[in-house]
Amino acid sequence: MQQLFLFRFLEIVAVMLFVVGQSSSSGDTMIQDTSLVNGQTLRSTGELFQLGFFSLDNSSGKGYLGIWYCNFTPQEGIVVWIANRNKSVNTAMASFNLTSDGNLILFEDDQTVWSTGTRSTGLNSARLQLLDSGNLVLNDSNLILWQSFEHSNDSSTQLPGMKFGFVKRTNTSRRQVSWKNSTDPSPGDYTHMIRALPIPDLVIFNGSAKYHRSGLWNGYGFVGYPSIASNQVTNPANYTFVSNENESYFMVNYRASPTPVLIRSTLWANGTIQRWFLDRGGNREWQLLSSIPADECDMYNLCGRNRVCTNKYVAVECQCLDGFVNITENGREAGCEREKPLNCSSNQFSKVQNVKVPDTENATPRGNMSLDDCKNLCSDNCSCVAYAVISGSYGCITWLGDLLDLRTFVDEGDDLYVRLAESSTKKHVWAAIAIPLLLGFFLLCCVGVLVWRKRKRASTRLPLQLPNVKEGNSTTCDDVSESRLVSIDSEDSCLHNNDKGVDMINTLGLLPSYNLETIKTATNDFSDGNKLGEGGFGVVYMGQLEDGQKIAVKKLSRNSSQGPNQFQNELSLIAKLQHRNLVRLLGCCIEDTERIIILEYMENKSLDAFIYDKTKCSLLNWQKRLEIIVGIARGLLYLHQDSVLRVIHRDLKPSNILLDKDMIPKISDFGIARIFEGDRALEDGTTRPIGTFGYMAPEYLLYGQFSFKSDVFSFGVIVLEILSGKKNRTFGQTNSNLNLLQHSYKLWKEGRSLEILNDAVSCSYPTIELLRCIRMALLCVQDNHEERPTMTEVVMMLASDEQLLTPLKQPTITSIYSEGDCSTKEMSITITGR
Ligand SMILES: *[C@@H]1O[C@H](CO)[C@@H](O)[C@H](O)[C@H]1NC(C)=O
Ligand SMILES: *[C@@H]1O[C@H](CO)[C@@H](O)[C@H](O)[C@H]1NC(C)=O
Ligand SMILES: *[C@@H]1O[C@H](CO)[C@@H](O)[C@H](O)[C@H]1NC(C)=O
Ligand SMILES: *[C@@H]1O[C@H](CO)[C@@H](O)[C@H](O)[C@H]1NC(C)=O
Ligand SMILES: *[C@@H]1O[C@H](CO)[C@@H](O)[C@H](O)[C@H]1NC(C)=O
Ligand SMILES: *[C@@H]1O[C@H](CO)[C@@H](O)[C@H](O)[C@H]1NC(C)=O
Ligand SMILES: *[C@@H]1O[C@H](CO)[C@@H](O)[C@H](O)[C@H]1NC(C)=O
Ligand SMILES: *[C@@H]1O[C@H](CO)[C@@H](O)[C@H](O)[C@H]1NC(C)=O
Ligand SMILES: *[C@@H]1O[C@H](CO)[C@@H](O)[C@H](O)[C@H]1NC(C)=O
Ligand SMILES: *[C@@H]1O[C@H](CO)[C@@H](O)[C@H](O)[C@H]1NC(C)=O
Ligand SMILES: *[C@@H]1O[C@H](CO)[C@@H](O)[C@H](O)[C@H]1NC(C)=O
Ligand SMILES: *[C@@H]1O[C@H](CO)[C@@H](O)[C@H](O)[C@H]1NC(C)=O
Repeated sequence: MQQLFLFRFLEIVAVMLFVVGQSSSSGDTMIQDTSLVNGQTLRSTGELFQLGFFSLDNSSGKGYLGIWYCNFTPQEGIVVWIANRNKSVNTAMASFNLTSDGNLILFEDDQTVWSTGTRSTGLNSARLQLLDSGNLVLNDSNLILWQSFEHSNDSSTQLPGMKFGFVKRTNTSRRQVSWKNSTDPSPGDYTHMIRALPIPDLVIFNGSAKYHRSGLWNGYGFVGYPSIASNQVTNPANYTFVSNENESYFMVNYRASPTPVLIRSTLWANGTIQRWFLDRGGNREWQLLSSIPADECDMYNLCGRNRVCTNKYVAVECQCLDGFVNITENGREAGCEREKPLNCSSNQFSKVQNVKVPDTENATPRGNMSLDDCKNLCSDNCSCVAYAVISGSYGCITWLGDLLDLRTFVDEGDDLYVRLAESSTKKHVWAAIAIPLLLGFFLLCCVGVLVWRKRKRASTRLPLQLPNVKEGNSTTCDDVSESRLVSIDSEDSCLHNNDKGVDMINTLGLLPSYNLETIKTATNDFSDGNKLGEGGFGVVYMGQLEDGQKIAVKKLSRNSSQGPNQFQNELSLIAKLQHRNLVRLLGCCIEDTERIIILEYMENKSLDAFIYDKTKCSLLNWQKRLEIIVGIARGLLYLHQDSVLRVIHRDLKPSNILLDKDMIPKISDFGIARIFEGDRALEDGTTRPIGTFGYMAPEYLLYGQFSFKSDVFSFGVIVLEILSGKKNRTFGQTNSNLNLLQHSYKLWKEGRSLEILNDAVSCSYPTIELLRCIRMALLCVQDNHEERPTMTEVVMMLASDEQLLTPLKQPTITSIYSEGDCSTKEMSITITGR
């Protein structure tokens, strides 16, 4: 503690010496009849900002008068204000004078280049002061004559406390205008400003074309900047948006006061706005808070009119709103138009969830009202095409004409209701066709059930019942279709279904069945030479079919509690899970007591063969490692969220991540466990924990409680292992008594995260990506499952450029992991209906 203090003290002294030695500072204030020339600066009292001449390239001698951060050079691109951005001066011949009549003038060789135009008679004592906020204030006594925060506009950087917007009465406005490029601060192509609309918002323009739209203010943030809203507590910034009859402005303030951080937002020459913060107690590194536009869907109206833009991680998807069809203009996609013209009497609306509502240029604010009232208002107006209720600000909003610049968010955004064209006559025609059809279907259905019940009695086989689906020994037609029973009446295929109108069946693909002879031939009669490995479920062999296709053959051990038919049904379900990052089930073979499944063959075996092995490890550079992490995350997201069955893996570990010839990771063993657990429902969370030590979440290990979040924990451990090249379970034995999680956390806390890295990665990596990854992994291994992100969030974190700000706690689970090798070999799975 004392050492730390001493260190800090020395640091401060060093900084002070550095500062004093560096420049001829003249305090923070200039009085009447004084001037500032090249080499002299004003410094704010807290040594945060300085005002002076600078140049951006050394050769030309072209210079500017501006304000920048004391601890950074103007060349580092962080000039916050420039008096003469449009016209450089020769710094050797320039001077910045506060005249006796209170005018602030920038001279170049006695020529006025820039001035505040604040000449006045009868001044007492005009003073120019540079404040710690970065504001440059010209006062006479206590009357403000001019200040850089208000009276100069078009800076490319916005600082906390600066009102960004316009005052209607005085016609003064403040916008952000980009530089031309990093060495030319004159006005570039991009402008960021508040639009003076009845429903104002922030827009970045490229010339006169809209480039990005913030979406609407919802009381605490702009919907288009989800990061701002979602980081409410931990975000160092506090945002204010005001729009009334006198003025409209957007302002950033420091959340905590006195403030330990610096914040800025810069509109770069390429149209990107980045918000940064600097921890003043920490190192010299600015951290990115957000970057806008954040993704492709953020580009204004990317998909064209009446279309919704959705980011699908790999590509953008453009979809027409309900009732609209694609149109092209001049051979190019232009968006969508209504299939049928809107009819005044139609009062049907389709709901579009989680969107940035369309451009409000054609919209009208209607004030606070309920969703129903807003709907009625829109229904009553023939030309109203959509409505939305935005809580916290504008209330009900209605739109006319085309809907532009719509995009979706994962779980933020508002709901938009789009009017549908309704055709009352058509509806009746449909009813006339549909009712007899439905009746016919029900009749068929009844016959089907009778036949099925007969067969059921004749056989002893049990139907598979999906958990979480309404139970019931159904006797009526309705019940049958609701309870989704799948029965078994065929023996020669892995897929056993009946075709009597039960909808579940159609969702089961056909899984090919192989006979035992074929498999024996393919694997040299299960020879040891073909053995690839041995796992919890049995032995895996490499095989080659007659057509040359390589396969992996998993001969399951015989302790399954399921009968053969149930087994087959499970497999058919599992075969439905198909994703680029999951190992594919190719077929099965069930003869006598043998249960064999045939899987895709993976050339590069499993991840554990690479990450702990020092020689192979160097094959995985940062890019590859990141791809593997992202791949596993996507596979897991699919299992958790996007698959027909929502699956908890329960035994995620590097040896269950296989790599194909392109090193694309594929999760394996994700569906087989259920076969071993049989019908014992696993949802009550009381089953004994089965999995592998080192990867099991604390609540699972200690109390047998598992959830999607226990997989997230395992994923976090895997990521840390991929980055460090070390095994969590054996880590503590060689490195002090911390496990890998605690060690990583400790390094993180001390700002030494990069030391987690495996030697092989350290050659070249983007620091920000790496830190983001480590931070994400540490979030995943939080003790409390509620503090862990969902896989959806993980995938988003991996895809975004934002700095994560959620607080981290130290993972505590410790000693249990160091108790040697007592991993159980089994694992399990849960399948729940959607
Ligand atoms: C600016 O002020 C300095 C002294 O403060 C003075 O010498 C110089 O002449 C002034 N420049 C102009 C153009 O008035
Ligand atoms: C200008 O010169 C300084 C040192 O003299 C150097 O550090 C800096 O990189 C140069 N900047 C440019 C833009 O050349
Ligand atoms: C900047 O200077 C250029 C020419 O030097 C001029 O065309 C332009 O209007 C100026 N812009 C502003 C904002 O003064
Ligand atoms: C300028 O005037 C304002 C308003 O009266 C006062 O709050 C501020 O302290 C003054 N600043 C300086 C530098 O005198
Ligand atoms: C503000 O600008 C508008 C249009 O640009 C003009 O009509 C109005 O008179 C101006 N108001 C003042 C106070 O300058
Ligand atoms: C801000 O800039 C615009 C365009 O360059 C200009 O028309 C306006 O007068 C400026 N406002 C102030 C307060 O300087
Ligand atoms: C910036 O733009 C100026 C012209 O406006 C050009 O001369 C210069 O080379 C550019 N610099 C860079 C780094 O692109
Ligand atoms: C900005 O506008 C210019 C001129 O209209 C265009 O050439 C350029 O492609 C635009 N940039 C972007 C990023 O859309
Ligand atoms: C707008 O300005 C007028 C006149 O200065 C003032 O009376 C009114 O309260 C202001 N409105 C708001 C919302 O600040
Ligand atoms: C945010 O700023 C507003 C006004 O600028 C202030 O009223 C509010 O208390 C601030 N909130 C926090 C959490 O600092
Ligand atoms: C725009 O420029 C900034 C600063 O140079 C950079 O960090 C950012 O990645 C660029 N954005 C795009 C989309 O090129
Ligand atoms: C409309 O166009 C989009 C984007 O090209 C495409 O994804 C979609 O399938 C098309 N929809 C129809 C109905 O053709």
